[in-house]
Amino acid sequence: MYSLANKRVLLGVSGGIAAYKSAEVVRRLQDLGATVRVVMTAAATDFITPLTLQALSGNPVHTKLLDTKAEAAMGHIELAKWADVILIAPISANFMAKLASGEASDLLSTLCLASRSLLAVAPAMNQGMWKNPSTQKNIGYLRSRGIHIFGPAEGSQACGDTGPGRMIEPKDIAELTADLFETGSLAGIKVVITAGPTREAIDPVRYISNNSSGKMGYALAEAASEAGAETILISGPVNLKPPSRAKTVYVTSAREMHIAALEEAVDCQLFIACAAVADYRPVNQSEQKIKKSKDEITINLIKNPDIVADIAALTNRPFTVGFAAETPQTKDCLEIYAREKLERKNLDLVIANDVSGRTMGFDSDDNAVLVVETSSSEAIPKTSKTILSRQLIAKIAQMLKITNKTL
Ligand code: PMT
Repeated sequence: MYSLANKRVLLGVSGGIAAYKSAEVVRRLQDLGATVRVVMTAAATDFITPLTLQALSGNPVHTKLLDTKAEAAMGHIELAKWADVILIAPISANFMAKLASGEASDLLSTLCLASRSLLAVAPAMNQGMWKNPSTQKNIGYLRSRGIHIFGPAEGSQACGDTGPGRMIEPKDIAELTADLFETGSLAGIKVVITAGPTREAIDPVRYISNNSSGKMGYALAEAASEAGAETILISGPVNLKPPSRAKTVYVTSAREMHIAALEEAVDCQLFIACAAVADYRPVNQSEQKIKKSKDEITINLIKNPDIVADIAALTNRPFTVGFAAETPQTKDCLEIYAREKLERKNLDLVIANDVSGRTMGFDSDDNAVLVVETSSSEAIPKTSKTILSRQLIAKIAQMLKITNKTL
């Protein structure tokens, strides 16, 4: 089943008669669950109006690079970061040449240069233009850069010619776009992921907690499902929509998360502990709201169970991945702290993040991590949690294959 649930598609429309079909592309992408924003080149607006695509997509259509009003609402760099995938359908021979030469002469070409997301194009042009060696050279180059080329199809063309160059059908474009996210690298395995904070009650209205938003863990769950895993997400209290293809188990406290994790981990092959579990809880929970009668009160705390360490200690343990949230004084400290956790908790892998700033780690859309294994480490630079999660899942799937723990 094809799905684009929770995916953000930036649909680029370039100039050509097939631009009229972009209206249906919007619809078919939405049918699969995508949120769509449209960017049109000036030439595209000669074939279909921005108003049509705005009405269908439900979002303002962007046409100009230097548009102060549009920049104030969502700047072009923000737009480039917003997309999980940029899909240009149709892409003309001219726009392919622009992409191949790395031009930034209009909004759409600038977005393609600035974006780190997946890029796919559905060519549409006269058969002679398609067969032209310059076009073929550009296509070859775009392919070599990892840009996905959908089509074109063969058949009769608007100009009266017959041959290759027709844009493939909107439904096929939407399904191929969905396919980009399906790697299958974790097919047949069960993954349990913890996410979000825990809350440790002091009294019926107060608790100890932290700033985890759940974004990192939820993105990992999405990426694991895309990779074909049966995904169980054990979530603390967050304000996020549950991932469409994962089973989500909601908990509040560390002890509840501990019970749920041990229950779900029985037959799982991969456990990823991304939750920011409270290390301590109040020894006693007051049944009544504590009155403000004293200037000072003391709350005695007791250690919570270490969930990931207990999973790693199981006889038939899964491949066990922990996170390390650190505020290191020097760059080297991050690895030292992560390695200490790797050993102390007997983990297969630790994903360490520096949570000192506000733009990464807790409650942010981006993150940068150091992936620490027994004999090596690898830094993954700052990127969106969505993209980072796909990179992490690909790496873990590779390690699982090598250790042969599951496949
Ligand atoms: O949720 P976001 O806002 O997106 O933020 C993401 C994040 C910063 C929370 C995430 O990237 C992260 O770092 N998660 C781990 C946070 C944490 O508690 O780190 P720690 O270094 O204190 O714990 C080490 C590991 O032990 C973690 O895998 C943690 O889940 C686990 N742990 C900790 C305590 C405990 N009682 N049980 C555990 O399983």
